[in-house]
Amino acid sequence: MTAQVHICEVGPRDGLQNAHHLMPTEAKKTWIRALAAAGLREIEVGSFVPPKLIPAMADTGEIVSFAKTISGLTVVALAPNLKGFQRALEAGAHKVTFPVSASRKHSESNVRMTPEQMIEEVRKCAQLPHPGVEIEGAVSTAFGCTLQGEVPEDDVVRIAAALAEFCDCVALADTVGYANPAQIKRIFSRVRKEIGHKLEAAHLHNTRGLGLANALAAYEEGVRHFDSSMGGLGGCPFAPGASGNVITEDLVFMFESMGVRTGIELEKLFFARKTLIQGLPGEPIYGHTPDAGLPKGFRAAA
Ligand code: COA
Ligand code: ZN
Repeated sequence: MTAQVHICEVGPRDGLQNAHHLMPTEAKKTWIRALAAAGLREIEVGSFVPPKLIPAMADTGEIVSFAKTISGLTVVALAPNLKGFQRALEAGAHKVTFPVSASRKHSESNVRMTPEQMIEEVRKCAQLPHPGVEIEGAVSTAFGCTLQGEVPEDDVVRIAAALAEFCDCVALADTVGYANPAQIKRIFSRVRKEIGHKLEAAHLHNTRGLGLANALAAYEEGVRHFDSSMGGLGGCPFAPGASGNVITEDLVFMFESMGVRTGIELEKLFFARKTLIQGLPGEPIYGHTPDAGLPKGFRAAA
Protein backbone atom coordinates (compact mmCIF):
# COMPACT_ATOMS: atom_id res chain seq x y z
CA MET A 1 0.00 0.00 0.00
CA THR A 2 1.22 3.51 -0.82
CA ALA A 3 2.30 5.50 2.21
CA GLN A 4 0.03 8.43 3.04
CA VAL A 5 0.04 11.55 5.16
CA HIS A 6 -2.78 13.81 6.26
CA ILE A 7 -2.25 17.56 5.98
CA CYS A 8 -4.29 20.16 7.84
CA GLU A 9 -4.10 23.62 6.26
CA VAL A 10 -3.85 26.17 9.07
CA GLY A 11 -3.32 29.30 6.94
CA PRO A 12 -6.79 30.77 7.50
CA ARG A 13 -6.10 30.68 11.27
CA ASP A 14 -2.34 30.65 12.04
CA GLY A 15 -1.60 32.55 8.83
CA LEU A 16 -4.18 35.30 8.95
CA GLN A 17 -3.86 35.93 12.69
CA ASN A 18 -0.33 37.21 12.06
CA ALA A 19 -0.75 38.82 8.62
CA HIS A 20 -0.13 42.54 8.11
CA HIS A 21 -3.40 42.89 6.25
CA LEU A 22 -6.99 41.81 6.89
CA MET A 23 -8.46 39.35 4.41
CA PRO A 24 -12.10 40.18 3.65
CA THR A 25 -14.63 37.49 4.62
CA GLU A 26 -15.61 36.76 1.00
CA ALA A 27 -11.94 36.35 0.02
CA LYS A 28 -11.46 33.89 2.91
CA LYS A 29 -14.37 31.83 1.55
CA THR A 30 -12.92 31.83 -1.97
CA TRP A 31 -9.53 30.72 -0.61
CA ILE A 32 -10.99 27.98 1.58
CA ARG A 33 -13.11 26.71 -1.32
CA ALA A 34 -9.99 26.54 -3.52
CA LEU A 35 -7.97 24.77 -0.79
CA ALA A 36 -10.67 22.13 -0.41
CA ALA A 37 -10.89 21.76 -4.20
CA ALA A 38 -7.14 21.05 -4.24
CA GLY A 39 -7.76 18.07 -1.97
CA LEU A 40 -7.23 19.43 1.54
CA ARG A 41 -9.60 17.46 3.75
CA GLU A 42 -8.96 19.39 6.95
CA ILE A 43 -8.70 23.17 7.32
CA GLU A 44 -8.27 25.22 10.48
CA VAL A 45 -10.47 28.09 9.39
CA GLY A 46 -10.16 30.49 12.32
CA SER A 47 -10.16 31.02 16.05
CA PHE A 48 -12.76 32.01 18.61
CA VAL A 49 -10.79 34.64 20.47
CA PRO A 50 -11.93 38.13 21.51
CA PRO A 51 -12.26 40.08 18.22
CA LYS A 52 -10.62 43.09 19.88
CA LEU A 53 -7.53 40.99 20.50
CA ILE A 54 -7.27 39.57 16.94
CA PRO A 55 -9.54 41.49 14.54
CA ALA A 56 -8.63 39.11 11.67
CA MET A 57 -10.57 36.36 13.47
CA ALA A 58 -13.77 38.39 14.05
CA ASP A 59 -15.67 36.55 11.29
CA THR A 60 -14.75 32.99 12.36
CA GLY A 61 -18.39 32.05 13.11
CA GLU A 62 -19.44 32.91 9.57
CA ILE A 63 -16.37 31.19 8.12
CA VAL A 64 -17.08 27.98 10.06
CA SER A 65 -20.70 27.97 8.81
CA PHE A 66 -19.48 28.46 5.25
CA ALA A 67 -16.74 25.82 5.45
CA LYS A 68 -19.28 23.28 6.76
CA THR A 69 -21.10 23.49 3.42
CA ILE A 70 -18.04 21.92 1.71
CA SER A 71 -18.66 18.20 1.71
CA GLY A 72 -15.99 15.94 3.14
CA LEU A 73 -14.13 18.80 4.83
CA THR A 74 -13.21 18.65 8.53
CA VAL A 75 -13.64 22.19 9.83
CA VAL A 76 -11.26 23.04 12.67
CA ALA A 77 -11.27 26.11 14.91
CA LEU A 78 -8.91 27.17 17.68
CA ALA A 79 -10.29 28.11 21.10
CA PRO A 80 -8.25 29.58 23.97
CA ASN A 81 -10.83 29.08 26.73
CA LEU A 82 -14.32 27.91 27.69
CA LYS A 83 -16.00 30.88 26.04
CA GLY A 84 -14.15 30.17 22.80
CA PHE A 85 -15.13 26.50 23.01
CA GLN A 86 -18.81 27.41 23.50
CA ARG A 87 -18.65 29.72 20.49
CA ALA A 88 -17.01 26.95 18.44
CA LEU A 89 -19.75 24.48 19.42
CA GLU A 90 -22.47 27.00 18.55
CA ALA A 91 -20.88 27.61 15.15
CA GLY A 92 -20.68 23.84 14.57
CA ALA A 93 -16.92 23.29 14.21
CA HIS A 94 -16.06 19.60 13.70
CA LYS A 95 -12.84 19.83 15.67
CA VAL A 96 -11.55 22.32 18.24
CA THR A 97 -7.89 22.79 19.02
CA PHE A 98 -6.59 24.32 22.26
CA PRO A 99 -3.12 25.87 22.55
CA VAL A 100 -1.46 24.72 25.78
CA SER A 101 2.01 26.19 26.06
CA ALA A 102 4.76 24.18 27.67
CA SER A 103 6.52 27.49 28.32
CA ARG A 104 5.06 29.28 31.33
CA LYS A 105 6.01 32.68 29.93
CA HIS A 106 4.39 32.03 26.56
CA SER A 107 1.29 30.62 28.23
CA GLU A 108 0.89 33.76 30.31
CA SER A 109 1.50 35.98 27.29
CA ASN A 110 -0.79 34.01 24.97
CA VAL A 111 -3.77 32.99 27.12
CA ARG A 112 -3.10 34.80 30.42
CA MET A 113 -3.09 31.48 32.24
CA THR A 114 -0.31 29.26 33.53
CA PRO A 115 0.07 25.91 31.72
CA GLU A 116 -1.62 24.21 34.70
CA GLN A 117 -4.58 26.62 34.57
CA MET A 118 -4.87 26.10 30.83
CA ILE A 119 -4.90 22.30 31.23
CA GLU A 120 -7.78 22.73 33.70
CA GLU A 121 -9.58 25.05 31.24
CA VAL A 122 -9.35 22.40 28.51
CA ARG A 123 -10.48 19.72 30.98
CA LYS A 124 -13.59 21.82 31.77
CA CYS A 125 -14.35 22.11 28.06
CA ALA A 126 -13.89 18.38 27.49
CA GLN A 127 -16.35 17.68 30.31
CA LEU A 128 -19.10 19.66 28.55
CA PRO A 129 -21.29 17.67 26.16
CA HIS A 130 -19.76 17.98 22.69
CA PRO A 131 -21.28 15.20 20.60
CA GLY A 132 -19.28 14.40 17.50
CA VAL A 133 -16.78 17.21 18.10
CA GLU A 134 -13.14 16.22 18.31
CA ILE A 135 -10.90 17.95 20.85
CA GLU A 136 -7.19 18.43 20.15
CA GLY A 137 -4.71 19.56 22.77
CA ALA A 138 -1.78 21.26 21.06
CA VAL A 139 1.35 21.56 23.18
CA SER A 140 2.78 24.86 21.97
CA THR A 141 6.38 26.02 22.38
CA ALA A 142 7.20 22.32 22.78
CA PHE A 143 10.70 22.78 21.34
CA GLY A 144 11.69 26.12 22.86
CA CYS A 145 10.30 29.59 23.42
CA THR A 146 11.43 33.10 22.50
CA LEU A 147 10.27 34.37 25.91
CA GLN A 148 11.50 31.59 28.19
CA GLY A 149 14.32 30.11 26.12
CA GLU A 150 14.73 26.42 26.78
CA VAL A 151 11.58 24.40 27.49
CA PRO A 152 12.33 21.27 29.56
CA GLU A 153 11.35 18.09 27.69
CA ASP A 154 9.86 16.74 30.91
CA ASP A 155 7.36 19.62 30.89
CA VAL A 156 6.31 18.75 27.33
CA VAL A 157 5.83 15.07 28.21
CA ARG A 158 3.89 15.90 31.39
CA ILE A 159 1.53 18.33 29.61
CA ALA A 160 0.96 15.96 26.68
CA ALA A 161 0.15 13.15 29.13
CA ALA A 162 -2.30 15.37 31.05
CA LEU A 163 -4.05 16.41 27.83
CA ALA A 164 -4.23 12.83 26.55
CA GLU A 165 -6.48 11.98 29.53
CA PHE A 166 -9.38 13.97 28.11
CA CYS A 167 -8.45 15.09 24.57
CA ASP A 168 -9.09 12.94 21.50
CA CYS A 169 -5.66 13.75 20.12
CA VAL A 170 -2.53 15.68 21.01
CA ALA A 171 -0.23 17.70 18.75
CA LEU A 172 3.26 19.01 19.38
CA ALA A 173 3.86 22.52 18.09
CA ASP A 174 7.11 24.31 17.34
CA THR A 175 5.44 27.71 17.73
CA VAL A 176 8.59 29.81 17.23
CA GLY A 177 10.62 27.60 14.89
CA TYR A 178 13.29 26.53 17.39
CA ALA A 179 13.17 22.78 16.70
CA ASN A 180 15.82 20.73 14.93
CA PRO A 181 15.34 17.26 13.44
CA ALA A 182 17.17 15.39 16.22
CA GLN A 183 15.03 17.11 18.84
CA ILE A 184 11.85 16.39 16.86
CA LYS A 185 12.70 12.68 16.81
CA ARG A 186 13.60 12.59 20.48
CA ILE A 187 10.55 14.44 21.80
CA PHE A 188 7.98 12.80 19.52
CA SER A 189 9.41 9.44 20.51
CA ARG A 190 9.28 10.28 24.24
CA VAL A 191 5.69 11.56 24.03
CA ARG A 192 4.57 8.59 21.92
CA LYS A 193 5.95 6.20 24.57
CA GLU A 194 3.78 8.04 27.08
CA ILE A 195 0.49 8.49 25.19
CA GLY A 196 0.70 6.13 22.19
CA HIS A 197 -1.67 6.75 19.26
CA LYS A 198 -3.16 9.87 20.90
CA LEU A 199 -0.06 11.71 19.72
CA GLU A 200 -1.10 12.80 16.27
CA ALA A 201 0.07 15.99 14.56
CA ALA A 202 3.28 17.92 14.10
CA HIS A 203 2.67 21.67 13.89
CA LEU A 204 5.90 23.14 12.58
CA HIS A 205 7.14 26.62 11.78
CA ASN A 206 9.81 27.49 9.25
CA THR A 207 11.34 30.44 11.10
CA ARG A 208 14.92 29.16 10.82
CA GLY A 209 14.43 27.27 7.56
CA LEU A 210 14.16 23.84 9.19
CA GLY A 211 10.43 23.32 8.60
CA LEU A 212 10.76 20.59 5.96
CA ALA A 213 13.73 18.92 7.65
CA ASN A 214 11.68 18.76 10.84
CA ALA A 215 8.63 17.45 8.99
CA LEU A 216 10.72 14.70 7.46
CA ALA A 217 12.19 13.83 10.86
CA ALA A 218 8.69 13.62 12.30
CA TYR A 219 7.59 11.44 9.37
CA GLU A 220 10.51 9.09 10.00
CA GLU A 221 9.42 8.96 13.64
CA GLY A 222 5.99 7.71 12.51
CA VAL A 223 4.04 10.99 12.45
CA ARG A 224 1.39 11.02 9.72
CA HIS A 225 -0.53 14.23 10.50
CA PHE A 226 0.97 17.60 9.67
CA ASP A 227 -0.19 21.20 9.98
CA SER A 228 1.08 23.63 7.37
CA SER A 229 0.23 27.00 5.92
CA MET A 230 -0.11 28.07 2.32
CA GLY A 231 2.52 30.59 1.30
CA GLY A 232 4.27 30.09 4.63
CA LEU A 233 2.02 32.58 6.40
CA GLY A 234 1.72 32.29 10.14
CA GLY A 235 3.00 33.00 13.59
CA CYS A 236 1.72 33.65 17.07
CA PRO A 237 1.22 37.38 17.76
CA PHE A 238 1.99 36.70 21.45
CA ALA A 239 5.35 35.00 20.84
CA PRO A 240 7.92 37.61 19.80
CA GLY A 241 9.85 36.60 16.70
CA ALA A 242 7.40 33.91 15.60
CA SER A 243 6.97 33.61 11.84
CA GLY A 244 5.40 31.40 9.22
CA ASN A 245 4.42 27.76 9.30
CA VAL A 246 6.01 25.10 7.15
CA ILE A 247 4.83 25.90 3.61
CA THR A 248 1.97 23.70 2.41
CA GLU A 249 3.04 23.81 -1.25
CA ASP A 250 6.60 22.64 -0.43
CA LEU A 251 5.43 20.05 2.10
CA VAL A 252 3.04 18.52 -0.44
CA PHE A 253 5.79 18.53 -3.07
CA MET A 254 8.25 16.85 -0.70
CA PHE A 255 5.87 14.04 0.21
CA GLU A 256 4.45 13.49 -3.29
CA SER A 257 7.94 13.39 -4.85
CA MET A 258 8.94 10.81 -2.20
CA GLY A 259 5.96 8.68 -3.28
CA VAL A 260 3.95 9.51 -0.16
CA ARG A 261 0.35 10.39 -1.01
CA THR A 262 -1.16 13.58 0.36
CA GLY A 263 -4.43 13.49 -1.59
CA ILE A 264 -3.61 17.03 -2.74
CA GLU A 265 -3.15 18.07 -6.38
CA LEU A 266 -0.29 20.51 -6.76
CA GLU A 267 -1.68 22.33 -9.81
CA LYS A 268 -4.92 22.98 -7.96
CA LEU A 269 -2.95 24.02 -4.91
CA PHE A 270 -1.16 26.62 -7.05
CA PHE A 271 -4.57 27.91 -8.12
CA ALA A 272 -5.57 28.20 -4.45
CA ARG A 273 -2.36 30.19 -3.91
CA LYS A 274 -3.58 32.69 -6.51
CA THR A 275 -6.79 33.19 -4.54
CA LEU A 276 -4.68 33.77 -1.41
CA ILE A 277 -2.55 36.40 -3.19
CA GLN A 278 -5.67 38.10 -4.55
CA GLY A 279 -7.31 38.11 -1.13
CA LEU A 280 -4.27 39.46 0.71
CA PRO A 281 -2.51 41.85 -1.67
CA GLY A 282 0.84 43.17 -0.49
CA GLU A 283 1.44 40.32 1.98
CA PRO A 284 4.75 38.45 1.57
CA ILE A 285 3.90 34.95 0.31
CA TYR A 286 6.62 32.29 0.28
CA GLY A 287 7.07 28.93 -1.45
CA HIS A 288 9.98 27.40 -3.34
CA THR A 289 7.94 24.89 -5.36
CA PRO A 290 5.40 27.39 -6.72
CA ASP A 291 8.21 29.89 -7.47
CA ALA A 292 10.34 27.34 -9.34
CA GLY A 293 7.55 25.24 -10.85
CA LEU A 294 7.25 21.47 -10.83
CA PRO A 295 10.21 19.49 -12.21
CA LYS A 296 9.92 18.38 -15.82
CA GLY A 297 8.15 15.03 -15.94
CA PHE A 298 7.09 15.28 -12.30
CA ARG A 299 4.70 12.57 -11.23
CA ALA A 300 2.68 12.69 -8.03
CA ALA A 301 2.57 9.64 -5.74
CA ALA A 302 0.36 6.93 -7.22
N1 COA B 1 -14.22 34.92 22.57
C1 COA B 1 -14.79 36.15 22.63
N2 COA B 1 -14.71 36.93 23.72
C2 COA B 1 -14.06 36.44 24.79
C3 COA B 1 -13.45 35.18 24.77
C4 COA B 1 -13.54 34.40 23.60
N3 COA B 1 -12.97 33.21 23.51
N4 COA B 1 -12.87 34.96 25.97
C5 COA B 1 -13.09 36.05 26.71
N5 COA B 1 -13.80 36.96 26.00
C6 COA B 1 -14.22 38.28 26.43
C7 COA B 1 -14.84 38.27 27.81
O1 COA B 1 -16.23 38.04 27.72
C8 COA B 1 -14.53 39.66 28.30
O2 COA B 1 -15.41 40.58 27.67
P1 COA B 1 -15.90 41.93 28.38
O3 COA B 1 -14.66 42.76 28.57
O4 COA B 1 -16.85 42.50 27.40
O5 COA B 1 -16.50 41.48 29.66
C9 COA B 1 -13.14 39.92 27.73
O6 COA B 1 -13.05 39.09 26.57
C10 COA B 1 -12.02 39.57 28.69
O7 COA B 1 -12.23 38.26 29.20
P2 COA B 1 -11.17 37.46 30.09
O8 COA B 1 -11.74 36.14 30.40
O9 COA B 1 -10.73 38.36 31.22
O10 COA B 1 -10.01 37.22 29.07
P3 COA B 1 -8.52 37.76 29.12
O11 COA B 1 -8.51 39.20 28.79
O12 COA B 1 -7.84 37.28 30.35
O13 COA B 1 -7.91 36.97 27.83
C11 COA B 1 -7.98 35.00 26.48
C12 COA B 1 -7.79 35.57 27.86
C13 COA B 1 -7.66 33.52 26.57
C14 COA B 1 -9.39 35.23 26.02
C15 COA B 1 -7.01 35.72 25.50
O14 COA B 1 -5.74 35.79 26.07
C16 COA B 1 -6.92 35.01 24.15
O15 COA B 1 -7.85 35.03 23.38
N6 COA B 1 -5.77 34.40 23.83
C17 COA B 1 -5.56 33.69 22.58
C18 COA B 1 -4.59 34.43 21.76
C19 COA B 1 -4.37 33.75 20.43
O16 COA B 1 -5.26 33.60 19.63
N7 COA B 1 -3.11 33.37 20.17
C20 COA B 1 -2.74 32.78 18.94
C21 COA B 1 -3.18 31.38 18.78
S1 COA B 1 -2.24 30.25 19.73
ZN1 ZN C 1 1.53 27.89 14.79
